[in-house]
Amino acid sequence: MGKKTAIQRIEKLRDLINYHNRRYYQLDDPEISDSEYDRLMQELIALENSDTLGKQIDISLSPTQRVGAAPLGKFESIPHLSPMLSLANAFSEEDILSFDERVKRLLDTQENVSFVVEPKLDGIGVNLLYEKGILKYGSTRGDGAIGEDITQNLKTIHAIPLKMKSASGQVIPDKIEIRGEVYIRTDDFKKLNIQRLDDGDNQFANPRNAAAGSLRQLDSTITAKRPLSIFCYAIGFSEGIAFRTHLDFLQTLKDWGFPVNPHINKAEDIHTCIEYYHEMIARRETLPYEIDGTVIKVDSIDTQNRLGFVSRSPRWAIACKFAATQTTTIIEDIIIQVGRTGVLTPVAQMKPVRVGGVMVSRATLHNQDEINNKKLHIGDTVIVQRAGDVIPQIVKTVGPSAHENEQPFRIPDTCPMCGSRVVRLKGEAAHRCINLDCPAQIRENITHFVSRGGMDIEGLGEKLISQMLDSGIISDPADLYYLTEDDLTGLERIGDVSARNLLSSLEKSKTPSLEKFIFALGIRHTGEHVSKVLARRFGILDNIVNANGEELLSIKEIGPEISGSITTFFREPSNLRTMERLKKAGVSPVEGPIASGDLSGKTFVLTGTLQRFSRHKAKEIIESLGGNVSSSVTKNTDYVVGGTSPGSKLDKARLLGIPVLAEEAFLEITGQGVRGTG
Ligand code: IVH
Repeated sequence: MGKKTAIQRIEKLRDLINYHNRRYYQLDDPEISDSEYDRLMQELIALENSDTLGKQIDISLSPTQRVGAAPLGKFESIPHLSPMLSLANAFSEEDILSFDERVKRLLDTQENVSFVVEPKLDGIGVNLLYEKGILKYGSTRGDGAIGEDITQNLKTIHAIPLKMKSASGQVIPDKIEIRGEVYIRTDDFKKLNIQRLDDGDNQFANPRNAAAGSLRQLDSTITAKRPLSIFCYAIGFSEGIAFRTHLDFLQTLKDWGFPVNPHINKAEDIHTCIEYYHEMIARRETLPYEIDGTVIKVDSIDTQNRLGFVSRSPRWAIACKFAATQTTTIIEDIIIQVGRTGVLTPVAQMKPVRVGGVMVSRATLHNQDEINNKKLHIGDTVIVQRAGDVIPQIVKTVGPSAHENEQPFRIPDTCPMCGSRVVRLKGEAAHRCINLDCPAQIRENITHFVSRGGMDIEGLGEKLISQMLDSGIISDPADLYYLTEDDLTGLERIGDVSARNLLSSLEKSKTPSLEKFIFALGIRHTGEHVSKVLARRFGILDNIVNANGEELLSIKEIGPEISGSITTFFREPSNLRTMERLKKAGVSPVEGPIASGDLSGKTFVLTGTLQRFSRHKAKEIIESLGGNVSSSVTKNTDYVVGGTSPGSKLDKARLLGIPVLAEEAFLEITGQGVRGTG
């Protein structure tokens, strides 16, 4: 290939790859397969590296920079042009109020100072240097004065512009340091850990550690595979530009193409900052990334300069930290719980501690692999955390362990409930009790059967079920419907009234919806959603019982694992016997006609306020016609229904070219419209 054609091809490939990057990363709607994309990328890399072109072409802005480069031996040191400061912390409302008082005292004023409030992102702070709008290098914070050069790794983050743009004609400064926080979204973090489990790699303790580990890779092709994101929030050194306020700066950052957190607000006084702090505590769990506090910054840059710094922190800003979500405690015991499907789950009983404002004393240890990986023993001192979700988890052991040289805790070989043999099936992480009549399994099974999502039998809790099992008046779910008043009053603490009430709730529960009945059966991998899908698709119980693997697999939501457990369940004679006895006792799920309105298989997303009915009602209507309702817009969405004041979902739908239905059109297609009434 001649030099000219090669250069033309390079330009063409760069455009193509940039286009496909946008479809993949921004629109979530790729047009080509991963392998086709890889082929384009490989061709471009080969051309850019070819000897004939040598150093004649500038690769600094090429999309090849996003996939990582040759591994480094070590990270070079890089001094920051202006130091990367840290923030002083406030832990309470009083601390926040004294920050405000100090600011006013230093400024010698009684007037309110305007602030900007921001989420404090729990990630890794980085510094990006742009010269004439081009990303020159990126580095870690290091000791605040000198960081490590992680340019290759930062270039793999698609959200970091390789070149600043100026959408609205803003000047591009000659030189500017932009600071921000690299983080991993909570859902991406979960996926990453599942992937690592599959690959046999160690689990990351939290998204922050995963982000830190990813940025510290000497081989940037590994970093390129990690789902890193960034929000930018501060300026370091700058030349050729000045801002009046911090908000102006953030606005310009957005305009230049940097991601800025959407929850940043202006606050006219310190009380608004305190309100924001409480608001963010409440919203924390719903954000798609982790935050560990809020940050208050004086808005006026001039005032910031007047306030200056003390030691390593600015006097014009403060971090308002949330209560710690990690702390240490001791594992006092490890107990084994036996679940509905016979799975033995080890649970750590810990010395109670307060974590993130809640007392915690138990944490699941999942399975033997988890115990081995974390090398856990009874008596170990451990770090516990409450992560994005509320479930406490053990992160790792700390300090010298008296058991260091001992084997980690072992799940017993026999079931603690029935003494039967415990096995670990091939390909499974779990240990199981193989006795189908294990009392623990039966109890869990019956508890599941009567639960709200299942037969919804009022007044029948786990304690009473245990009592009935122990006294021998029931041994499976069907037995419940053969109980007599005498059986019940024979139990301790059950009087005539309670007995009659329970019999009446049992009677009332005899006509559940088909989906609740399926759920109640407790088929493995068949939760509320799959039960609903089955009920919709098959309409009557017998059709589900008789469905074969192929029919089940033709349903979008059902894969081989679920289909296998459904067919196995309905082939098991004891299950069929229980179902027969339920039928004889008068239990008869309500079987509707097979829902097949125009909406079957269609996925809807609702946004904004509907005038005619609540979103909940709209969801019911869609589902009754065989459609699904999902909460986020993706390329698999069929329609977005937009009420008044719709949110960003509408924008996303437009971006993806998904039809948007106004309320009238929605009424029309669901047959709810009022026609010909005139
Ligand atoms: S501003 C001079 N804003 O928290 C102020 N920092 O201890 C520079 N951080 O090192 C930082 N979210 O890594 C700022 N909205 C935010 C932040 C934030 C997280 C991190 C940052 C910094 C540390 C402060």
